[in-house]
Amino acid sequence: MGEPLIRHRRDDDLKACVEALATVHRADRYPAQWPADPGGWLTPDGMLDAWVAVEDQRVLGHVALTRTGDVLAADVGRAPAELASVARLYATASARRRGVARALLATVTRAAAAEGLRAVLEVEEGGRAAVALYERAGWRHAGSRPGDWTTADGRTALLHTYVAPAAGTR
Ligand SMILES: CC(C)(COP(=O)(O)OP(=O)(O)OC[C@H]1O[C@@H](n2cnc3c(N)ncnc32)[C@H](O)[C@@H]1OP(=O)(O)O)[C@@H](O)C(=O)NCCC(=O)NCCS
Repeated sequence: MGEPLIRHRRDDDLKACVEALATVHRADRYPAQWPADPGGWLTPDGMLDAWVAVEDQRVLGHVALTRTGDVLAADVGRAPAELASVARLYATASARRRGVARALLATVTRAAAAEGLRAVLEVEEGGRAAVALYERAGWRHAGSRPGDWTTADGRTALLHTYVAPAAGTR
């Protein structure tokens, strides 16, 4: 198995992206609630771009880049217009620990930097694999705050904000 190809998401990828997301929901409860419109969930408001990891025509992973809201920007201490948010990142359950998410994260971070934007993201406390991924990639923890929902295991959600390393430092 070689490296998966990372490329821009096309409209006709969406069905395969939703099927891949279903494996993630079953394995990890991500997203916690299966959305009524999963294709819409993968295309959030303020989306700037999205990428897929593909191998042999199969979608192995996905990531989106969106505008950043005021609350997340305040955590980071910068104006929303200087930031872009990483969202909807996942690797299919059968393609884990092959560097799929690392490659997607590097692509989305570079795309933000190319526009003069610093990539940021939020991750819920229960997302241990994701936290390990971000910290391994050199992202900095910028703060934490409670979310406004209860997790599947009955906790009040706890959101951690992370900031990408400055371009050229990794
Ligand atoms: C988090 C997730 C995207 C990681 O995808 P992945 O393609 O398996 O990750 P990678 O293979 O690129 O891992 C890169 C590094 O991240 C860390 N990492 C990834 N998964 C890990 C895990 N389960 N445990 C510990 N470290 C992990 C490791 O340092 C890994 O490097 P290594 O394999 O050389 O040790 C995947 O587990 C997933 O889709 N989870 C459910 C959805 C989710 O949580 N999305 C993020 C929402 S914020």
